[in-house]
Amino acid sequence: MRINEERFELNGKNILLRCARPDEADMLINYLKTVTGETRFLMADADEISYTIEQEKSFINGHNDSDDQLLLLVFVDGEYAGNCSFDSKAVSRRNAHRAGIGIALFQKHTGQGLGRIILNRLIKEVKNAGFEQVELTVVGGNDRAYHLYKSIGFVECGRIPNANKYQDGTYADDILMVMKLTKSN
Ligand SMILES: CC(C)(COP(=O)(O)OP(=O)(O)OC[C@H]1O[C@@H](n2cnc3c(N)ncnc32)[C@H](O)[C@@H]1OP(=O)(O)O)[C@@H](O)C(=O)NCCC(=O)NCCS
Repeated sequence: MRINEERFELNGKNILLRCARPDEADMLINYLKTVTGETRFLMADADEISYTIEQEKSFINGHNDSDDQLLLLVFVDGEYAGNCSFDSKAVSRRNAHRAGIGIALFQKHTGQGLGRIILNRLIKEVKNAGFEQVELTVVGGNDRAYHLYKSIGFVECGRIPNANKYQDGTYADDILMVMKLTKSN
């Protein structure tokens, strides 16, 4: 899916929301390597990010050209700040009403209200695409993300204890969250 570019101001800064371009594949791979190194709350360690430019281009084109996936980049005063995305969870007709979302900003752009804005924008598109519920996984201890998701309307619906084992030998749970999409939310 694609959306038209959107511009607005937040805390005196110019924010741009738009879809990714295939020529930004390199930027997106480097972003993934950086954000995974900045927090233990994403899906992998930085040294495990090994996407090729071709794979990333195909990821970008796949999202832009599909009608049930969206990749949304956010820029702050012209600087790439991170992205959020949704994908259908359909494996068969039975789960085609469910979408999953993900979001990660560079640390320097966190804590300023940007996550809430782009997440709400993303969820609007999830709804427009006809999904009935939206789901996510948050790592236990990621209190900022958990608070944000709860305040938007997600509810915790399950936990996988010790789903993540870190190289230092510590563990963290995966918390599963879901939000039903209705006309009013
Ligand atoms: C999680 C993330 C997307 C949130 O976006 P953000 O722009 O930082 O969040 P916002 O500033 O919009 O909102 C954060 C909210 O959490 C609150 N918060 C911040 N730190 C908190 C903490 N330690 N405990 C509880 N709440 C906290 C803020 O007060 C704010 O709530 P409020 O609007 O009710 O005051 C962003 O921090 C991020 O990308 N982090 C790194 C990657 C990551 O963790 N991704 C999520 C994977 S599930």
